Amino acid sequence: MEDVFIVRGGKPLKGEVQLSGAKNVALKVAIAALLFKEPVAFENIPAIKDVEELLHLMRSLGVATTFEHNKLTIDPSTLVHHHVDLLHGSKTRVSFLLFAPLLHKFGKSVIPNPGGCRIGARPIDRHIQMLESFGVEVKYDSNTGYYSATKADKLKAATFTFEKPTHTGTELAIMLAVLAQGVSIIKNAALEPEVDDLISFLNQAGARIVRNGSEITIEGVTRLVPSVNSYAIMYDQNEAVTYGVFALATRGDITVHGVKRGDITAFVDKVLEAGGGFEDLGESLRFFYEKPLTAVDIQTAVYPGFKTDWQSPWAVLMTQAQGTSIIHETVFEDRFGYVAELEKLGCRFEFFSPDSTFSRTSYQFNVPAHFDTKRQAIKIHGPSKLHNGVMQVRDLRAGATVLIAACTAQGESIINGASIIDRGYEHIEVKLQHVGADIARL
Ligand code: EPU
Repeated sequence: MEDVFIVRGGKPLKGEVQLSGAKNVALKVAIAALLFKEPVAFENIPAIKDVEELLHLMRSLGVATTFEHNKLTIDPSTLVHHHVDLLHGSKTRVSFLLFAPLLHKFGKSVIPNPGGCRIGARPIDRHIQMLESFGVEVKYDSNTGYYSATKADKLKAATFTFEKPTHTGTELAIMLAVLAQGVSIIKNAALEPEVDDLISFLNQAGARIVRNGSEITIEGVTRLVPSVNSYAIMYDQNEAVTYGVFALATRGDITVHGVKRGDITAFVDKVLEAGGGFEDLGESLRFFYEKPLTAVDIQTAVYPGFKTDWQSPWAVLMTQAQGTSIIHETVFEDRFGYVAELEKLGCRFEFFSPDSTFSRTSYQFNVPAHFDTKRQAIKIHGPSKLHNGVMQVRDLRAGATVLIAACTAQGESIINGASIIDRGYEHIEVKLQHVGADIARL
């Protein structure tokens, strides 16, 4: 395999897309299944590379899994190792979430520094502070790159406030607290709907977790019991936004099944502001080209704001809009890697220092003393007529972004690194062919 997509763009994409299960839920519930004693079954798990890598990692710990037709079964009783090796651990960003089940089962765990998408330094200092508040001792060996975590006896509940919210940090806290002794309170917790799907799954199995805005209260239980029915995870809202942009950027018309307007309000509001065609069909949303788009600014934020995962597709859309728009990225410090790739197709960008009234402490990442805000914001000058090119995929969302650009551009484009897109998008070329795209995998 060449690991390449070849796209002949310039055609409006029209038709229907059924969303897959959410990547950022599938990975977490699969890990949470290791908190149980009996086999746990799930439905709607996407057949994507990130899930494949995680299951590979789990099997290296002895865990028996079956995964077929989007149904996943995990038998936690087969978990026998507490040491995640570098080969498997570095391939999946969420490997550090294994701290919770490994600590519950073995009282110790050894996990390498996490891998994953290249969108910033992505430290886990907040996770470590939170683990310590539960009485876990965490040591990092900079020679080997491994974290080792140990606890003296049964985990005790804790009250912990995240200085800045973290999505996976909140999920790790929930997985620790759910089987800890006593009542834990997590403050300034992440608000992402994916966190709530994890909570629903655990509550269905007897957990006692209550969210009150950004505060989550978890009353520890002694055992989680899988429900007789398998748990069907939510659909992928990031995928919904991606296909919405495919429709609008190519001047097409796509109905996306499996998403409600309220799930992606911040995105829909911006589409309407830009003059994009939109129809709310209840459990499906239709995005269509109606008239020339106008430039609209965005500033990414934690949910329910305009999510960081949506900004790179949005950038392609704005290359097709009249006027100059701005994207200010506030969640990750290195999420404009796609800019150089899109410039190859004739997109016009300019990095600049965003509004000085925006406080550096408002960035979600840890801001170093000497930090150049110039890399956090871009101006997009539109509209641009895009031509074909050869592009490289840098990270998952950037991959979907160059694919949108290739479908929008006239002529034949080559996209190197197709498998990076497979990390988070199930059967993307099949779904795109279904709406009329001329795309092939080599
Ligand atoms: N951060 C720290 N220290 C920490 C934790 C986070 O500095 O201990 C920083 C991060 O580097 C980042 C910011 O805080 O700059 C927010 O990070 P968060 O922890 O919320 O992100 P995450 O849990 O690593 C998840 C998703 C991301 C999504 C973000 C925001 C998963 C596996 N990943 O990442 O998804 O963008 O939350 O919602 O759930 C994607 O799907 O493409 C993706 C990157």
